[in-house]
Amino acid sequence: MLKGKKIVVGITAGIAAYKIPLLIRLLKKEGAEVQVVMTPFAKDFVTPLTLSVVSARPVLSDYYVKDDGSWHSHVDIGLWADALILAPLTANTMAKMAAGIADNFLLTMVLALRCPLFFAPTMDLDMFQHPTVKQNIHKLQSLGYHYIEPDEGELASGLKGKGRMKEPEELLKVLMDYFSKKQNFKGKRVMVSAGPTHEPIDPVRFIGNSSSGKMGMAVAKAFAGKGAEVELILGPVGLETHLPDIHITRVHTAAEMNAACRSIFPHVDIGVMAAAVADFTPISPAKEKIKKDRSLEQIHLKPTDDILSGLGKMKKTGQYLIGFALETEDELSNARQKLQKKNLDMIVLNSLKDEGAGFGTDTNKITLLIPHQPPQAFPLKSKEAVAEDIISAIQKLMEA
Ligand code: CTP
Repeated sequence: MLKGKKIVVGITAGIAAYKIPLLIRLLKKEGAEVQVVMTPFAKDFVTPLTLSVVSARPVLSDYYVKDDGSWHSHVDIGLWADALILAPLTANTMAKMAAGIADNFLLTMVLALRCPLFFAPTMDLDMFQHPTVKQNIHKLQSLGYHYIEPDEGELASGLKGKGRMKEPEELLKVLMDYFSKKQNFKGKRVMVSAGPTHEPIDPVRFIGNSSSGKMGMAVAKAFAGKGAEVELILGPVGLETHLPDIHITRVHTAAEMNAACRSIFPHVDIGVMAAAVADFTPISPAKEKIKKDRSLEQIHLKPTDDILSGLGKMKKTGQYLIGFALETEDELSNARQKLQKKNLDMIVLNSLKDEGAGFGTDTNKITLLIPHQPPQAFPLKSKEAVAEDIISAIQKLMEA
């Protein structure tokens, strides 16, 4: 799985750094090329000499070699790598990454990176529980970085709890799993729509909905994680991703989303419409802000175009189109009707009656409907895990 893969192992100043030479040995045994990059303080925990011997490459830590002034390019390393694993990752370096700070070689390389990044935050119990640490983990995940959760157990302080770095064998497995899955959608182009749309009433007000875009973003990342090139049409939410295989087109209104989808859909193999598109839009939004002394009893609305139905009509042989259905009653029969009416290959049903499902949450509970097949219901899962279920079902459809 890792034969010929170029793996950068980034080490920061955590005690678990003493286990990293073993990770490097394991990676090399699997046939990977390994480049170690470490922060200056990490050298207090494991020596560059040990690391360069086991990796069979000089360790990089500074921008240039003091003796001869030769330059190390953080950009070249960022382009060379197939994956970067940061283990152990301290709270300090993680906070700098979350803020985009680049005050050492390792951090500068992170900003120049074009490959998947895996991070294994490792620290003592109370540090790991601190809200800023949790926020930073969340921020890095939202950038598309893969979080390797620490284990529970005995910590260097003698305390027991969460914060231990996963053992080198498990870190290796994370990378092997990633590369083994990666190829399934290689060469495929996918369009995903996500988030709400905002329909303007005047220059400062709009009609919208509380879709967070998280489900669509998770689907986009899951496809990119398996080698697809993804066009993400994203409504007005603050989500972002750093993954090079996801190209984002940002839109506000249903009309803008429609135009973007219609121009991109003919060039993709799969379309997944997870966006919560407004069904109505004001007929004539006010040019100036509506003052409160002006009475506003009614806003006249007109229906928006049903983007998914339009794509269903455009769909060519060999293309797959997947929709979502958000229902509050008669869920299965409503979703089945949408599946048929919109000419879809699959519909992902969310019921707002299920706790933890639908808008804004980090979890979702779905039922997949495919023509001529019984519904497949899944338990409540993280949106990332739900995205994996959705794309596995798409893969089966394409193989059938
Ligand atoms: N959809 C769309 N364009 C619209 C409305 C919905 O492309 N103007 C898509 C959504 O992205 C989703 C699917 O249609 O994939 C179903 O959306 P949903 O809101 O559940 O249903 P609607 O078709 O809008 O029907 P209703 O609101 O009557 O349930």
